[in-house]
Amino acid sequence: MNKNRLGLRILELLEKYKNKKIMFWGASKFLKEFIRKQDLSCYNIEGIIDKDDNKWGTLWEGYTVYSPKSIIDKSNVCIISSIANNAEKAQQGIKSFLEFINNKDIFLAENVFYKEDMLKAFTSNHLYIIDKSGNSYEVSYIPGLEVVWSGADNVIKIYSDTLPKIKNTRIYCDNNDSEVSIGYGCDIMNFCIYIKGDKSTLNIGDCFTVQGGKIILGGESGTKVTIGNDCMFAGEVYIKSSDSHTVYDNSTREAINIPDAVHIGNHVWLGYGVSVLKNSMIPDNSVVAARSVVNKKFDEQNVVLAGVPAKVVKKNINWHRVNTEDYVK
Ligand SMILES: CC(C)(COP(=O)(O)OP(=O)(O)OC[C@H]1O[C@@H](n2cnc3c(N)ncnc32)[C@H](O)[C@@H]1OP(=O)(O)O)[C@@H](O)C(=O)NCCC(=O)NCCS
Repeated sequence: MNKNRLGLRILELLEKYKNKKIMFWGASKFLKEFIRKQDLSCYNIEGIIDKDDNKWGTLWEGYTVYSPKSIIDKSNVCIISSIANNAEKAQQGIKSFLEFINNKDIFLAENVFYKEDMLKAFTSNHLYIIDKSGNSYEVSYIPGLEVVWSGADNVIKIYSDTLPKIKNTRIYCDNNDSEVSIGYGCDIMNFCIYIKGDKSTLNIGDCFTVQGGKIILGGESGTKVTIGNDCMFAGEVYIKSSDSHTVYDNSTREAINIPDAVHIGNHVWLGYGVSVLKNSMIPDNSVVAARSVVNKKFDEQNVVLAGVPAKVVKKNINWHRVNTEDYVK
């Protein structure tokens, strides 16, 4: 499914019914994205209808969400379904509701979510396990890992000769054309990976261990997070390639917090509760102290970074996975 193509189809409907008041049906994620990307000011959009009473009266990207009942007495309204999941059933449901209220001045536009596109969306995402000989096996499920595909053409590659050691972990692929790769010998638990933008890349090296937290890529397209080999992350780590919202210069209106890659080198230990923000680099053989916030590029290897924002507090160090007692032995 190409979301741009679906967006174009909605725009075509908006053009076709330009002389009507438009109401979208379904405060969906798809609609949110569509509204965000378009200038719809030339259309007469009255709002959004949704069955969920928690959404009634709230704003959805600037448009008010109404209950289905609220349209009963309206006139000259064209309804456009914005429900992408199970679109045909949704279209049927809206049709039945309109027949029920029997207002000839409200009509439903044609469905833009064609079945073949939606099927493609579900068949063009791939989860592979790749063994050391380079054989790749497409799987639909790995115990301990839940993958939620909402877009198309995404690939997840997990390098492993056995069943990967993954527990209570989720990967959300919200958009299209993104890739996640996880190296050999990793041990991942209580972790969440959110790929929110198109064409995003997350590369995790071999022997990565993590006790909990999240990595978030995007919403903007094309962001990247790389994690080298033999990294050890404690619990509650938080890694982001973008701030998700815009800070802009008040005079020029230019955005100033542009997303940029996060690069974590080989053999890096992140302590409990560490955050690593966009445009950061943590060099090889380094340690980041608990609760620190890394928000820039460091280039000297073998350092301890600590504080908010993190600074180099020790140089010429290295670290080992064993505790100090065993290390001394
Ligand atoms: C990073 C760490 C291992 C460094 O320990 P260390 O080598 O003994 O370092 P020190 O305690 O001597 O601290 C060095 C400096 O950094 C500062 N510092 C250490 N941890 C800090 C933190 N979390 N936030 C801010 N500053 C910190 C110290 O105050 C000290 O500053 P000073 O030189 O001005 O006095 C340790 O601070 C840490 O964060 N441990 C938590 C590990 C963890 O989360 N484990 C979970 C299991 S994976």
